[in-house]
Amino acid sequence: MSAAGIPGPGPLSTGEIISLCDSHLLKNVGRIPLALVRGKGLKVWDAEGKEYLDFIAGIATCAFGHAPDFMAETLERQARTLVHVSNLFYNEPMARLAELLTRQSGLDRAFFCNSGAEANEAALKMARKYGSERSGGKRFRIVSAKNSFHGRTMGAISITGQQSLHDGFHPLLPGVSFVPFGDLEELDRAVDDSVCCVFLEPIQGEGGVEPAPDGYLPKAAEIARSRGALLVLDEVQTGLGRTGADFAFRHFGVTPDIMTLGKALGSGYPVAATLSTEEAGQALGPGSHSTTVGGAPLAMAVALELTSRLLDKDFLTRVAETGRYFLGRLNSLAASLPGAVQEARGLGLMLGLKLKVPAGPVVQKLLARGFIANATAGTVLRFVPPLVVTPAEIDLLCAALAESLAEERPAE
Ligand SMILES: Cc1ncc(COP(=O)(O)O)c(C=O)c1O
Repeated sequence: MSAAGIPGPGPLSTGEIISLCDSHLLKNVGRIPLALVRGKGLKVWDAEGKEYLDFIAGIATCAFGHAPDFMAETLERQARTLVHVSNLFYNEPMARLAELLTRQSGLDRAFFCNSGAEANEAALKMARKYGSERSGGKRFRIVSAKNSFHGRTMGAISITGQQSLHDGFHPLLPGVSFVPFGDLEELDRAVDDSVCCVFLEPIQGEGGVEPAPDGYLPKAAEIARSRGALLVLDEVQTGLGRTGADFAFRHFGVTPDIMTLGKALGSGYPVAATLSTEEAGQALGPGSHSTTVGGAPLAMAVALELTSRLLDKDFLTRVAETGRYFLGRLNSLAASLPGAVQEARGLGLMLGLKLKVPAGPVVQKLLARGFIANATAGTVLRFVPPLVVTPAEIDLLCAALAESLAEERPAE
């Protein structure tokens, strides 16, 4: 690095990358002091060549691990053919992806955009307009869950049930109320004929890997629909194989009226989707909603390739099997370390280990041992590895986890 702080030629060191970022990026997130430069499968390497096994996968995103060859090939082929045309026109990859996602999900209509928060924004607008058209503007309220997470736009934080993400951003979207996740009586009380939708995650991810209790989602759908409201499921994190099913709603015996997808859909390429029934989708007619780059052939081609692979039956079966194996290993760990671990939970490869100690220091210890994991909701270790993780890689993590947890002491 020159005296003026301008990097010279050649790759930068971790220290140089961090210093450059800290000098010029908005300080809107707290980053782990690790600069990753390369990846393959579960492995990533930092700027000094240290290897890590990645059990976060870019926060439940890189479904096929890092830098899968087929993504590079698809992106190159499409980039040399047609990158972007805007929604003034039709394009073939978008047509094929919409057909595939609607056929698989049983929903009827698809809208494509660039991030999970934007997919939720479209869902919110759809539900609001649907409600408005049926009530002369009176049906506009949204019921969401405490501890939920739906993204970082103003609309998305407004329906996110975490006070800390609201602080300083008021006034938020009006008409949103929060109920305890899994509590049907509270939901029943909160939904009246002023509500346009109930907006839920099937498994709360950021909220600590909390699956909806048995029977909750079908009953939530019944409550919503009986009062003229829609059930929106945010499957940005749970959708497309993460739980060992095509969509997490399969585990819970319910089909949503609107569902949002992101993360695995592009596996690191920015693309997301809002799917809906015909009836709900009609609310967003011509001119009501759009985005310039959403549905661009480049994004659609890579998402189509990824989705075709993610929805393969054998692939999903393997994810479910690997998830059961991983959960079994975490359960054994919980049983052998009762002083440090409360329980293991989750579905497929969306797993959490609820600790009796703060999860942050354990993440640091894992990192020092060459494993990347994530702390969420204070005391939960979240594991959302690439869906191609192997039992051998899980064994390596569990050995490092056992060592790291054995060093932890529960608070007196
Ligand atoms: C359930 C859920 N919804 C929405 C989002 C927001 O997605 P994005 O960060 O792509 O906007 C996330 C991101 O973590 C999420 O987990």
